[in-house]
Amino acid sequence: MNVLLIGSGGREHALAWKLAQSSGLDTLYAAPGNPGIAQHATIAALDTADHRAVIDFVRGHQIGLVVVGPEVPLVAGLADDLRAIGVPVFGPGREAARLEGSKGFTKDLCTRVGIPTARYFRVTSKDGALACLDDFAKDGQLRCVIKADGLAAGKGVVVAMSRIEAEDAISALFADGPAEAVIEEFLEGEEASLFVLCDGDATASFGSAQDHKRVGDGDIGPNTGGMGAYSPAAVLTPALEEQAMREIVRPTIDSLAAAGTPYIGVLYAGLMLTADGPKLIEYNVRFGDPECQVLMARFSGDLLATLLAVAEGRLADLPAPAFADDVALTVVMAANGYPGTPATGGSIDGIDAAEATGATVFQAGTREDAGQLVAAGGRVLAITATGRDVATAQAAAYRAVDAIDFPTGFCRRDIGWRAIG
Ligand code: AMP
Ligand code: GLY
Repeated sequence: MNVLLIGSGGREHALAWKLAQSSGLDTLYAAPGNPGIAQHATIAALDTADHRAVIDFVRGHQIGLVVVGPEVPLVAGLADDLRAIGVPVFGPGREAARLEGSKGFTKDLCTRVGIPTARYFRVTSKDGALACLDDFAKDGQLRCVIKADGLAAGKGVVVAMSRIEAEDAISALFADGPAEAVIEEFLEGEEASLFVLCDGDATASFGSAQDHKRVGDGDIGPNTGGMGAYSPAAVLTPALEEQAMREIVRPTIDSLAAAGTPYIGVLYAGLMLTADGPKLIEYNVRFGDPECQVLMARFSGDLLATLLAVAEGRLADLPAPAFADDVALTVVMAANGYPGTPATGGSIDGIDAAEATGATVFQAGTREDAGQLVAAGGRVLAITATGRDVATAQAAAYRAVDAIDFPTGFCRRDIGWRAIG
């Protein structure tokens, strides 16, 4: 079968790497792709925002499955337009993708069906936002989280630990006039991400991971798209996972199905494991990046067969997805300046040396410039290794990181620290 993979990040390189191992694959096409993805796929010169062009490509190349990696095309309804011509798609339609596209949509769904999540207000004006702050003051201290409503590449959230910080975040949010936002209670606990395949009705757990969103060691500095991850997240015990499936994921899937907008793809539930049980922080409607890299490093099944079964509504016929017992850990190397303006164009060498240590180097923001691999975005590489426990996987990943020669890049040196500590 021919497959079209949409996307150009480290997540899509990991998906391409795993799809290429599937026995049922004939040709893998990718758009827009990157030099790492091009090791496994034929790059299609396609503007993925032009749905008409994607449809023509699918028809012209006998594509049997389209796998949509990132959220932007899902929120734009690419999956609906492709399903309209009868092609199986891994990824939710526009309406179900609002789980990620609108924080307010998700919060209101949680309220409607009783899903545990942080107490919140939806606001549309600066005065309205300021007026609800008092509600989050406790013992003379104010803590809350301010979230822009729409897609923000992981950067639309401010965790405010004082009234001044909250007011500054609100001023910034409404600096250009009206906006939509959610202001919510600060939740305490450890974070874990749960991945669930869903074919519109049946669900299957696809493992867990823990991301590292802050740019600096020790979880300091601004939020990023994710600086590293490991899988599984041991804090999400089987009992807590079962509780999260029952109280959070299942009611969400059922609610979307009842509304006639079934969820087809992978649902990424960002959870806070609080003293009162798991609470939903956010949904994403796709694999995480870099969480996908560690899931693919551990997944032992046939990825094409699995994603196709999801897209065709046959998930219940498959055995439960199986994963290696090993821990996988990935370290993101980013270009200096990220998550602000990254320094692009810097040379990258040493990938072969890094892979000779046994690690896998997934490429994200890279491009080739006269035969030289150079940085072309914020997050550039995801160096991924496995081991019998987090410490062993971490040591293996950093051995490979140290073989990379990327003078204009940086990485965190402590990925996995919570699990090791
Ligand atoms: P989000 O983009 O919604 O995942 O938020 C980014 C990060 O902000 C999360 O990974 C958490 O670390 C933090 N965060 C979001 N919402 C809350 C909350 N209600 N309480 C505490 N931390 C939060
Ligand atoms: N790493 C977080 C995300 O993909 O949203």
